[in-house]
Amino acid sequence: MKILFAASEAVPFIKTGGLADVIGSLPKELAKLGADVYVILPKYGDIPSQYTEQMETVAEFQIELGWRTLYCGIQSLRYEGTTFYFIDNEFYYRRQGCYGYGDDAERFAFYCKAVLESLQHIDLLPDIIHCHDWQAGMIPVLLKAHYSWQEPYRHIKTMFTIHNLKYQGVFGKEQLKDFFSLGDEHFTGTALEIHGGASFLKGGLNYSDVMTTVSPSYAEEIQTPYYGENMDSLLRSQSHRLHGIVNGIDYQEWDPMTDVHIEVNYRDSFSKKLQNKMKLQERLGLPVNKQVPLIALVTRLVDQKGLDLIDGVIHQLLSIDAQWVILGTGESKFEQMFRWAASSFPEKVSANILFDEALAHQIYAGSDLFLMPSKFEPCGIGQMIAMRYRSVPIVRETGGLRDTVQAYNEETGEGTGFSFAYYNAHDMLHTVYRAVAYYQDADLWTAILNNIKKKDFSWRKSASAYMALYEQTTGV
Ligand code: GLC
Repeated sequence: MKILFAASEAVPFIKTGGLADVIGSLPKELAKLGADVYVILPKYGDIPSQYTEQMETVAEFQIELGWRTLYCGIQSLRYEGTTFYFIDNEFYYRRQGCYGYGDDAERFAFYCKAVLESLQHIDLLPDIIHCHDWQAGMIPVLLKAHYSWQEPYRHIKTMFTIHNLKYQGVFGKEQLKDFFSLGDEHFTGTALEIHGGASFLKGGLNYSDVMTTVSPSYAEEIQTPYYGENMDSLLRSQSHRLHGIVNGIDYQEWDPMTDVHIEVNYRDSFSKKLQNKMKLQERLGLPVNKQVPLIALVTRLVDQKGLDLIDGVIHQLLSIDAQWVILGTGESKFEQMFRWAASSFPEKVSANILFDEALAHQIYAGSDLFLMPSKFEPCGIGQMIAMRYRSVPIVRETGGLRDTVQAYNEETGEGTGFSFAYYNAHDMLHTVYRAVAYYQDADLWTAILNNIKKKDFSWRKSASAYMALYEQTTGV
């Protein structure tokens, strides 16, 4: 089985969110199952030189995008058993970051076209192109509209995975018509059109052979108006083609037993975990105290993550006998909120408004509780890493959080964390109260940690589920 992943980010080259973690780790697991996996990304200016220096140019050709004829280079690099291809066009990609430019429609139109054009130049014939999120959404459209009767494209199938339905890549119809030479028939409400514009994501949904999203609960939720982001009726009518497969985490990258960033390596030893906690408190300038529960948030500071719930009860949260550590960047209102909390309560709050991979590892290892009160969460990765590091998650019951964290139940002794159902600040507050109270009861805490120990969040099972779906879709 030859699989080409088309995505806009991948660890370790470039990352803005959880998508990059998935693209960096799933191919390795598929390879273990015997698949040949290739990944194709834009060659952004921010990719570190340690990688760009090793890249080799494997093809150079020209692409027509509307009336423009543009240079396209393909460079390649083997990394941990996977071949990565990078689409080189300095005008489009040699900039800071990945997205948010006025010409994003054109940049990712170029990307989608370049992915398909490159295949004949690099001599790659995948059985399936697995497209991720809106940036790759026009690939299935172009394949069906312009390539489907040509060799070598005729037999290629497509899978489209939704990592986040909220980002839809909506642009003007005229622009997309121009870039891709597509006729009016592609701009109807059952094709690309949405609210008068045209959406890359909708293209991915409507033209792919099979759709997936990153947890079974999110697959259900997005068929309702509350979570559906105006795509719910499409998804309901196509639900036979929609599958929910929960993400895993990279068990090598995230392993407290071998982690080079943390003070003391451990697996289940609570006393070694406490040493990491004390080191973290020291590093962050918090009072060094074993007893006080340390609650962590490692997240992009955006609305999706439920930070307005925290805002709603911040005074009550800060009056709990607990310490807080925040790591992440995002919307300035949330950055400000945490900066304010840290300056008002320096002995309780450490706000790290930045991105620091090593510190992230130290926080997972040093914290007791990990809070994720998301408004919606397609999968969520932090809660799984937290459990791998024996930091107990507090989550809202949505999407992947609902599928990976089971609320602790005193009657049955089952459960791996704490959760609340409604998107309500006081429900969250009371769940935090409960978690902190449980933390002070050593027997209860041990019971929860023992339940977490038995869980497997590696990619093993999910990679097999993807393989089964590739086989079903391609007949290979
Ligand atoms: C997006 C989602 C997140 C998911 C990740 C990887 O970032 O918001 O829930 O874990 O994609 O699939």
